[in-house]
Amino acid sequence: MAGVLLVSAAVVFLVVYQDTGSQLEGEIDRDISGDTSQLLQSLQGVRGKSLAQIQAAAIDYVRAQPYTATSTLLFVLLPGGATASNHPEVFGSLRPQPGETVSEQFIENAEGRRLLVPRIGYSVAPVPDVGRTRIFERRADLGTTQLIAGSGEPLALVERAQHGVARAFVLAGGVVLVLALLASYLAGARVSAPLRRMAQVATRVDAGDLGPRMEITGRRLDEVRVLAEAFNRMLDRLAEAFSSQREFVADASHELRTPLTVISGQLEVLAAQENPSSEDIVRVERLARAEITRISRLVDDLLVLAQAERTDFLRVESVDLGPFVTDLWDGLTLTAERRFELGEIADGSLRADPDRLAQALRNLARNAIEHTAEPDGVVRLDVRPLAPDRVSFVVSDDGPGIPEHERERVFERFHRTDSGRTRATGGAGLGLAIVRAIAEAHKGVVRVRDAPNGHGASIDLVLPGFHRAEVSSGRR
Ligand SMILES: Nc1ncnc2c1ncn2[C@@H]1O[C@H](COP(=O)(O)OP(=O)(O)O)[C@@H](O)[C@H]1O
Ligand SMILES: [Mg+2]
Repeated sequence: MAGVLLVSAAVVFLVVYQDTGSQLEGEIDRDISGDTSQLLQSLQGVRGKSLAQIQAAAIDYVRAQPYTATSTLLFVLLPGGATASNHPEVFGSLRPQPGETVSEQFIENAEGRRLLVPRIGYSVAPVPDVGRTRIFERRADLGTTQLIAGSGEPLALVERAQHGVARAFVLAGGVVLVLALLASYLAGARVSAPLRRMAQVATRVDAGDLGPRMEITGRRLDEVRVLAEAFNRMLDRLAEAFSSQREFVADASHELRTPLTVISGQLEVLAAQENPSSEDIVRVERLARAEITRISRLVDDLLVLAQAERTDFLRVESVDLGPFVTDLWDGLTLTAERRFELGEIADGSLRADPDRLAQALRNLARNAIEHTAEPDGVVRLDVRPLAPDRVSFVVSDDGPGIPEHERERVFERFHRTDSGRTRATGGAGLGLAIVRAIAEAHKGVVRVRDAPNGHGASIDLVLPGFHRAEVSSGRR
């Protein structure tokens, strides 16, 4: 700030200084050329007269306008070294004036002699007792006599004005510079104070403490405030992600521990017997195998959820919906005793990963099977096209249904409703979380819908990327 101010003040100063000088000099130049013309004008009256007469006329004219510090110096140079001037000192009065030393007078005389050398036009010369002087000289021909008339004005006025400008600039510039420095320091401190507080918070967060938040101050569109708000939101999300991660690991460990406890308990029972019967061995083996299956399924589910975050989760291809859904459904009907119903299937193909899609539909159907009674509970699948390019898979059943307040939460990892928790057959609560992960990977959605006839559950998986079959190809 100080540097920029100093440089700009210096530039302005130079311009004003120069401009003041050249303006005043311009005025001086106009004055002295006018004065010279008037002098010559007055001498026209003695045109053709003798040198002595001309000199006398010139002396009369210039004496009538005696030289003072603020008026114009007038002089005439005549042939043969004769001169006339309104300032008697100029061309060497030989005696020193009162208060002047002989050597000073000597220098002044030398300056005066130099004025005797004609310098036609504008020039600057030192003049005794006057200082640097702007001089204008013109040659004139009065018939009998050639002469040079000139006038001059001291440059001291210009110099005084320029010194005034310089003094004003140094004074005002100094004050302005100090004020500007003070103001910029205060402004800088004001702007950087919230940044310093933010830096403190960021350092604490960096050290591992997710607790502190940035103080929100300032106007709504203030960049610092926007930054603080964004940072706080990021911290909120980080803290949330960390805690959900912790919860997830804790839930997963808990789910794994239960079957492991069962297996180790059974093995202990078996080991406590000296001579276990073969029935006991078979029983324990069957129990252990069931628990190991549970563990494997849980690990598989965890793996799928972990992979779902990756970009190469899906292997998308064109899936011909007719055969795909029929095959899937035929396989499912073999796994349980229910009234399986398959509605009309949208005719066309879907851009999807067939393995993941099958997994999602199997999870939905398995839930429906788990929540319906054997043998005539209804488990139904409908595959309908939706405009513009989506397709909806609805798995519904006539079981107890999903209560309104659970409809969002059933998709959370490890979330089970109370009825799901008591069931021995129930999973770990990852089935619907996987369905949602697969739906989102396909840029689709899954949600619990109102059951069509007031009871039972109905879950709708909607995926984009559906292409209707050409009408001409007809139905399969
Ligand atoms: N068809 C359904 N009818 C009633 N409740 C269901 C149905 N599908 C899912 N649920 C409830 O949603 C919860 C979450 O389902 P899910 O994620 O598949 O976990 P899990 O089947 O392992 O319990 C289950 O505990 C269950 O209570
Ligand atoms: Mg399930």
